[in-house]
Amino acid sequence: MLSLAIFGSGSGTNCQAIIDAIAEGMLEAEVKCVLSDVADALILERARRHGIPAIHIDCAPFKTKLDGAAEQRVLQTLEEHGVNFIALAGFMRIIKDGLLNAYAGRMINIHPSLLPSFPGLDGGKQALDYGVKFTGCTVHFVDAGVDTGAIINQKCVAIDEDDTLDSLMTKIHAQEHIAYPEALQWIATGRIQLNGRRITLK
Ligand code: GAR
Repeated sequence: MLSLAIFGSGSGTNCQAIIDAIAEGMLEAEVKCVLSDVADALILERARRHGIPAIHIDCAPFKTKLDGAAEQRVLQTLEEHGVNFIALAGFMRIIKDGLLNAYAGRMINIHPSLLPSFPGLDGGKQALDYGVKFTGCTVHFVDAGVDTGAIINQKCVAIDEDDTLDSLMTKIHAQEHIAYPEALQWIATGRIQLNGRRITLK
């Protein structure tokens, strides 16, 4: 059974899609807790509405990474809640070695582009600025690089002549909300391998 922690920094629509997919019987998993580095992020409110523990992680003094004492508190929180798999959903901090090693092969992320194109920040804006005609979203394993881990699922969207960043992001988000629960269900049912090995849930 997938016992999930979902990490996010913002509105949490992907977290909501995962919670809804579980409620609808499309995803065999349980969300044990939701963590955010932003105290008033909507993702935490969404978790509370569903009776899921919603936990703020104070990452100070670091601005862009989850490290040091905060990382230790996160590891302890995950253990206390019996988490065996992590889904990053709009978590805007770099994950460092302590957490990466503890959850090696058991941490995935969603990114708003067709990786390996347009990694890093503002994947949708990068695609629009570049002028590509198709972009999309990618669910991938997290490794030490920026959006470089093995790809699990991708969905494509067309960029139309009259698309704005807002209209494009709306299309990408709609596909993300399908791709993320789908990828998790593939993992839950043993369909996904990493480096030729099945994913072992502790
Ligand atoms: C999503 O579009 C996700 O792909 C993106 O943040 C958004 C979070 O939305 N993640 C990244 O850009 C990571 N590099 P949500 O909070 O509504 O799920």
